[in-house]
Amino acid sequence: MHDSLAYRRRWFGTSWKMNKTIAEAEAYIGELLETALPSDATTFVIPPFTALDAVRRAIGDAAPNPASLALGAQNMHWRDEGAGTGEISAGMLKACGVQMVELGHSERRAAFGETDGTVNLKVKAALRHGLIPLVCVGDTREEFSAGASAETVLRQVKLAFFEVADTDRARCLLAYEPVWAIGESGEAASPAHVATVHAALRTLLGDPDRGGMKLLYGGSVNVDNAGQLARVDGVDGLFVGRAAWSAPGFRAVLKAAYGYWMV
Ligand code: PGA
Repeated sequence: MHDSLAYRRRWFGTSWKMNKTIAEAEAYIGELLETALPSDATTFVIPPFTALDAVRRAIGDAAPNPASLALGAQNMHWRDEGAGTGEISAGMLKACGVQMVELGHSERRAAFGETDGTVNLKVKAALRHGLIPLVCVGDTREEFSAGASAETVLRQVKLAFFEVADTDRARCLLAYEPVWAIGESGEAASPAHVATVHAALRTLLGDPDRGGMKLLYGGSVNVDNAGQLARVDGVDGLFVGRAAWSAPGFRAVLKAAYGYWMV
């Protein structure tokens, strides 16, 4: 189903959110792929819809290692077609060469009516169309302060993957992204906190080496904290925002995370 995308232990990528024109996207990809990306991590970029096709072409044109950067979209509708003004379907993304789709980001939950129920419908639609869902879950500051982080995200995960078969779950990615850790006013979670939440998620979702879901961490990841966060037990990758919105930033955080980046 996703044969074109090698399932490696480590995942590392960025969503550009509502940033970058087509020209800016092409320049970023050209710069990022000037030299090979590491072969022991699956790296990905998630541009805005308008730049997907241009980014796909830029990845395809790039030398010397064009296949190593996966392409994702930031959202989609769960229906295949119809009266959904302003929406994009899984089939449309697939036809653009998209391989993965981000679902349930906290900005979409807070501002655009995303719920655990719609995330569940979208996960199923993505899988039906051969897209890898990258589902985001996270606790609010209040839930964190009350010591309810793990139970909050476990609930979100149970609902997001309700009636999704184990074999399909094995194809999915999950990002733990505390709402309080994301964006300008956010502060990255401590490695100890990430370890606690990821341990709870791991218990629910199983070992990734035996068909369990891959678990990423996201929220104010940067060059200073990426190394520690990437080494937390149970963390299979990092999902980065602002710090990777330039190609040198992407490389720097990747290197800080895994240390094997050769430039
Ligand atoms: P940030 O964004 O790294 O800029 O905090 C992370 C995210 O929203 O996924």
